[in-house]
Amino acid sequence: MKSLDRYAVFGYPITHSKSPRIHKIFAEQTGQAIEYSAQEVPAGQFSAAVAAFFADGGKGLNCTIPLKELAWAYADVKTERAELSKAVNTLALQADGSILGDNTDGIGLVTDLMTNHAVTLAGNRILILGAGGASRGIIAPILEQSVHSIVIANRTVDKAINLAQEFHHKGSITGCGFNDLKNQQFDLIINATSTSLSGQLPPLPEALLAKNGVCYDLAYNNEPTVFVRWGLENHALKSLDGLGMLVEQAAEAFFIWRGIRPKTRPVIELLNAERKM
Ligand code: ATR
Repeated sequence: MKSLDRYAVFGYPITHSKSPRIHKIFAEQTGQAIEYSAQEVPAGQFSAAVAAFFADGGKGLNCTIPLKELAWAYADVKTERAELSKAVNTLALQADGSILGDNTDGIGLVTDLMTNHAVTLAGNRILILGAGGASRGIIAPILEQSVHSIVIANRTVDKAINLAQEFHHKGSITGCGFNDLKNQQFDLIINATSTSLSGQLPPLPEALLAKNGVCYDLAYNNEPTVFVRWGLENHALKSLDGLGMLVEQAAEAFFIWRGIRPKTRPVIELLNAERKM
């Protein structure tokens, strides 16, 4: 009997990952015979664990926090979007035995915003809060949507300025501190800081969100995150969290591995219904 093609997500910690569930549903939906597991891998064991996984016949991996930069360094070849983001969330075994590294986070966010929530990016002013790995992964795919501009605001101002500098050639983008946001307004504010899950919020001035503006938190939780609540309090047209992005980035990884696009909407609806229970 032919064994199932094997995939996995590596992370640390990994216990709460929804990825095995999402990929199981994708596989059932598309009739793909795959197996997808979750493995807790400390950063110090990353290279050895990835090498062992592929040597043992594994076909592809997702890598999540804190392993995305290590996955970027591990990949033999990288897509342009992975190269720019300096982080890889998807590794795929190629026919010639090399390992391809891609980053599907940014396209996952853009798809969730534009396709699932009908949010317009073209011509709009975008604010990204945070200048860490999560921000780096989403900048290029957003700039590609002909946005008016991106401002990156960060607690450590130099990091925001340096990150903006890296993407200058792709569009209008500047970096600043939270204090510099006074008297500015944005059509879309994306929280890419790691504050949300600890229940904190960066210091944001009033009237930061334009009329009919949208808020999006890359993080997600069963309860609305503190940033999603901030969006609602500030009259956002929509205040969204990252559950849809999670499913969309998974669908993009599935496509890289299997060449088939699963339907994401029923999976998002299912996961959303479960957290309302
Ligand atoms: P990730 O990979 O999730 O982006 P990271 O690279 O550690 O993680 O980046 C975390 C981001 O959240 C950074 O932009 C960080 O700001 P600094 O660069 O100033 O550290 C931001 N962050 C974390 N805690 C914060 C807080 N309490 N207030 C504001 N920003 C915070």
